[in-house]
Amino acid sequence: MSNPTPQPKKLFIKTYGCQMNVYDSDRMADALAPHGYMPVHEIADADLVVLNTCHIREKASEKVFSELGRLKELRAERQAAGLDLTIGVAGCVAQAEGEEIVRRVPDVDLVFGPQSYHRLPDLLARVDGARGLHAALRAPVVDTDFPEEDKFEHLPAPRKEVTVSRGLTAFLTVQEGCDKFCTFCVVPYTRGTEVSRPLAQVLEEARRLADAGVREITLLGQNVNAYHGLDGAGRPAGLGELCYRLSEIEGLARIRYTTSHPADMADELIEAHRDLGALMPYLHLPVQSGSDRILQAMNRKHTRQSYLELVARIRAARPDIALSGDFIVGFPGETDEDFEQTLSIAAEAGYASAFTFKYSPRPGTPASGLGGQVPEPVKVERLARLNAQIAAQTRSFAESCVGKVLPVLIEKKGRNPGQLGGRSPYLQAVHMDGPERLIGGIHPVEILALSNNSLSGRIVTVAERSSARVVESRPVPPCPATRSKGILSRHVPPPADNALSPQLELAFDDNRLAAQLYGDFDQNLALIEQRLSVQATPRGNHVMLKGAAQEVDQARRVLESLYELLEEGRAIDIANVDAVIRMVQSDDSQLTLPTLEKKGKVRMAQIATRKATIVARTPAQDAYMRAMDRAELVFGVGPAGTGKTYLAVAHAATLLERGDINRIILSRPAVEAGERLGFLPGDMKEKVDPYLRPLYDALYDMMKPEAVERGITSGIIEVAPLAFMRGRTLANAVVILDEAQNTTSMQMKMFLTRLGENSKMIVTGDPTQVDLPRGERSGLVEALGLLDGIEGIHISRFTDRDVVRHALVGRIVRAYEGATAKGDRAS
Ligand code: 5AD
Ligand code: SF4
Repeated sequence: MSNPTPQPKKLFIKTYGCQMNVYDSDRMADALAPHGYMPVHEIADADLVVLNTCHIREKASEKVFSELGRLKELRAERQAAGLDLTIGVAGCVAQAEGEEIVRRVPDVDLVFGPQSYHRLPDLLARVDGARGLHAALRAPVVDTDFPEEDKFEHLPAPRKEVTVSRGLTAFLTVQEGCDKFCTFCVVPYTRGTEVSRPLAQVLEEARRLADAGVREITLLGQNVNAYHGLDGAGRPAGLGELCYRLSEIEGLARIRYTTSHPADMADELIEAHRDLGALMPYLHLPVQSGSDRILQAMNRKHTRQSYLELVARIRAARPDIALSGDFIVGFPGETDEDFEQTLSIAAEAGYASAFTFKYSPRPGTPASGLGGQVPEPVKVERLARLNAQIAAQTRSFAESCVGKVLPVLIEKKGRNPGQLGGRSPYLQAVHMDGPERLIGGIHPVEILALSNNSLSGRIVTVAERSSARVVESRPVPPCPATRSKGILSRHVPPPADNALSPQLELAFDDNRLAAQLYGDFDQNLALIEQRLSVQATPRGNHVMLKGAAQEVDQARRVLESLYELLEEGRAIDIANVDAVIRMVQSDDSQLTLPTLEKKGKVRMAQIATRKATIVARTPAQDAYMRAMDRAELVFGVGPAGTGKTYLAVAHAATLLERGDINRIILSRPAVEAGERLGFLPGDMKEKVDPYLRPLYDALYDMMKPEAVERGITSGIIEVAPLAFMRGRTLANAVVILDEAQNTTSMQMKMFLTRLGENSKMIVTGDPTQVDLPRGERSGLVEALGLLDGIEGIHISRFTDRDVVRHALVGRIVRAYEGATAKGDRAS
């Protein structure tokens, strides 16, 4: 007789406490899935119920015991119906209380601690084995050892469909345990000493999650920023490095982490907040108390002052960070004065949200034995005051978001039909209307109002934005620890039978950079081969170049120049490759550039914006970019498509980024609309915005969408019609005037005389494209005549040879120029 297919067993895991338990519950389900356990939604349907418990506060463990009382009844009911129920207790209460649980509730079959989840199938088999025994011999299984083995290595990965079904956001535990021993806390005793998972293991799990469509990962650990997982070379990598590495994973748009200790906030992690667009501007950094006396009694290892200084450093790196924290009120010995300090630090540090707790003595912790326990009514009163203050702060933070456009990760359908729900970078819930197909994407949402605990907004339509806005990532600067050291090149004697000679072999010492150098499907090498008539064959981190001597040498210089950009942490694309080839060729054809080292590596002028490195693509661009560095007033004149405005905006964005200036002002004459603007509906901004759209587009090309939006809402970036410049002094700014051929003489003079302290003006336009009312002389044409040769003023002239937008644009420009020349002759 064949065995009947075993019925799937039904599993219900009830999770208490923190996110680490949520993660652990999923891992238990994953461990049991191959053994025929299927999760069910109703506890009453389950064959196995596991309570995944939390021990951090007293209430949590009491809840577990009352739940066990109910399960005992459920078991009796099921047994009466000829069914059975296995009851398991996991988590920190299991770890802490162990045998005590089965003593209090003998119906419990299995008690196991957080380090035993991977052994769950074995433990259940032991429970089933015991079932067959005589009642007197039966004993519940208790496993609360801290085993030596790495449980993560033994936990099976769930099937991809399971991960997909769990949604777009996922937790990933990277470290467990804590060595801080805050005197109120049980964690060091229940979860044990601090252990980090190896870097590669974490990255692999993250890749698997991203592959299943997860867009946001929250790294978990009781003390997550103490993470020090070993890398391949056996060197400990910190949380900062981990974030850099994670941000390279395709598809993974957002990274968060929790919970952190102020003493473990390493510089590298703060830098990651500055550098990584994927690392969300939200930080849970518990302070617990604002009083130094209490902080010391808590063994917190930080003071009020050091905490505030730390927050200031983090804010300097990431100004919009939303700070969250934990507070305990009524710690033994806490006076009214100490408590006032807690209220004041909450305000001073500027929390956007916080979790607040009444102190509860945990058995076995040092503080539980302290004198000066605070009476319950005092704790209640203090908690209420702190909660009221935090609620007000949370509200005012939310209010500050109203009117802004925030990138929202759209996670699910909303409660009402046609509604969607997602989260802002600051972890606020956001509701908006929109089609379901947007779920999984990050979309700009204009925040319109706040209701209770969430924000509501409207998705900014495609027509209103450049497509660049929906992209949240930016090129990742390499983690300092993985920076490369250089290139080796050696000449290889040509084999006798090879017509192509000589040969040159280049060796790049960083495989990752070499891969970026070659491009997707080696497309960068292919372009070099095509344009320079060489053969470039990659083998790992070596490239073999074959061809005529001059071309091989050019290819070498191209590759070395590009590699240098990569080493500086820049991303390169095919356009950069094209540019470098042009530069090397123009160098050799005597179109010399001032700084070009003959026959050496080419150093084209370059602008490294947050989103990409823009390298000069033509000699005129090179001269223009250098002029913007030196001169205070630069004119970029010539045909469309030569990158005049684009490069000006890039230059401004970098100066802003570096803190050299405080603001960017972008302007253009709105002549197309002229005075008729007054008849259009809407306020002035709405009326002129369409005319300024190209400037917005350039900004979104250079900067992260959030940075642009932050800049615009805070007034750091101003996009305004020329008329708005009247009467102002523009100091500490880069001011860009685009389409300047359409200014009148008066307007140009007005504009140029606005130049203030520490400012720079860049005026771009095409004198052949004047679109002014009849008889008006172009302010640009006039200025070029009057100002040429004045010190501090530079005029860069572009021609059709510099058109980089599209080859056809160059030909169109040439055709028009030809026609104009003929027309001129005819008239
Ligand atoms: N009493 C009250 N709150 C506590 N926490 C930890 N232990 C206790 C305790 N004994 C709070 C701390 C910690 C958070 C997870 O729980 O604020 O950061
Ligand atoms: Fe507990 Fe956090 Fe202190 Fe560690 S750092 S002992 S987990 S409160």
